[in-house]
Amino acid sequence: MVDEQGDKILEARQSYFEKQRLVESARIAFQFLAAVLRNASLYPQQHPILQSSAEKLQAKIQELLAERNEVPFYLVRGELFFETTPVPIDQSFSVAIEQFTDKDIGGIIFKPNVAVEEIGRFADMIVNEEIMPSTQEGLSVATAKRGIFHISIQHALLVDKKIGSVIKAREKKASSVFRDTINALKDVVQAVYLEKASSMRQMNSVVQNMVDYVLDNRDALIGLTSIKMYDEYTFAHSINTSILAVSLGTYLSMTKPQLAALGMAATMHDIGKVAIPKEIINKPGRLTEEEWEYVRRHPIAGAVFLSKIPSITKLAMVVAYEHHQHGQNAYPVPEALHRRHPFSQIISLADSYEAITASRVYYKSKIPPHEAIRILVKNRGVTSNPVLLKAFINMVGIFPVGTLLKLDTGEIGLVMHQTSDLMRPRVLILTRFDGSEKEDSKIVSLADRTNGKYRRSISGTIDPEEARINLRPYFE
Ligand SMILES: [Fe+2]
Ligand SMILES: [Fe+2]
Repeated sequence: MVDEQGDKILEARQSYFEKQRLVESARIAFQFLAAVLRNASLYPQQHPILQSSAEKLQAKIQELLAERNEVPFYLVRGELFFETTPVPIDQSFSVAIEQFTDKDIGGIIFKPNVAVEEIGRFADMIVNEEIMPSTQEGLSVATAKRGIFHISIQHALLVDKKIGSVIKAREKKASSVFRDTINALKDVVQAVYLEKASSMRQMNSVVQNMVDYVLDNRDALIGLTSIKMYDEYTFAHSINTSILAVSLGTYLSMTKPQLAALGMAATMHDIGKVAIPKEIINKPGRLTEEEWEYVRRHPIAGAVFLSKIPSITKLAMVVAYEHHQHGQNAYPVPEALHRRHPFSQIISLADSYEAITASRVYYKSKIPPHEAIRILVKNRGVTSNPVLLKAFINMVGIFPVGTLLKLDTGEIGLVMHQTSDLMRPRVLILTRFDGSEKEDSKIVSLADRTNGKYRRSISGTIDPEEARINLRPYFE
């Protein structure tokens, strides 16, 4: 039994590392491709610099071909995929991605026996051909004419149809990961209410799932956290905090078992609130001193509850106890010189951000995500570790995923991904406001320029509620 479980863990670990290795290989291959394109715009075709970059790319493609029949890269709605696995976009190849999307190219597929010379001709075609043929057939003819037989170029539309459905099916899961985690948490809370022993097995598995998802597609889940659920706020708050904490953990390069422990602790951080009467939890106005006394007890109640569960990591207990031990109103009052566990610091930060952005549920005050970031920055050092806060801001951006932007072109954009420029995220241009834009609209980067000038800039933010725009369909 123990052996069987050990095998399973080993297997899961192996497949995780294999996947990470594949993503890394694909990322490097695309980086080499970007270098070839850059060199093709600077040097003539026979130039040794261009030659050597094409050789590097060819070698990397050969390496990837050892385990597959072709090496396909796809660009779907501004994201890069290798086969159906997302590849994180970094600054060094964002220009190449722009070149492809500008020409409506959605797929670049390298076939076995691709030659260095062909790569050179392909790069020349991408860089110098102003207008690409508009049909798939035309593209095939054009590539063949240039002697490119082992690299296939596909139109964005064709790719969307073929691979888009696979990717969409995967994306769909974001809301179900969210739902499953809420349901598992509800079961645990129910068990606490009824003072029944609760099984943590389900909770463990949904948290594992969430960690996998964050590793795969962090932005889709972060987008969901920006949509506040009025009806099930307390549950949604815990799940949102967990998603944000795990995301920060991945940003800090934590290992998968660490992420799972962090996710579990974050999901359980407010479990002690079960002991607080509902009227107090949902009270919109200020709390009386007596009511506050109740609230202040939830970290201890949570820690006591978690200490009784054998299958949960002891860190969850520590986090529940420490998660409000920061700032001037720290409770339970910490001992002098007490340093909180790093997990508690990460979860507190995610918790504060989540609580500020959700404050409209409580107080009807409207604090958009970028304003929440400003509040956290103002209080840095008091409520949070400045280094962690910096990492958190780099991860969520100044305009986090899910922020609705007014652009200087008169367009309205919804933030879908961050770029390395925190003021210039990638946005989906909204025209119909019913969620259908994500099917056909392009995601544009606010870092895109024409003749050295930014094509679009942010001129303000829009409160989705006031504008009566429902963002949920965009992240489901
Ligand atoms: Fe709390
Ligand atoms: Fe909380």
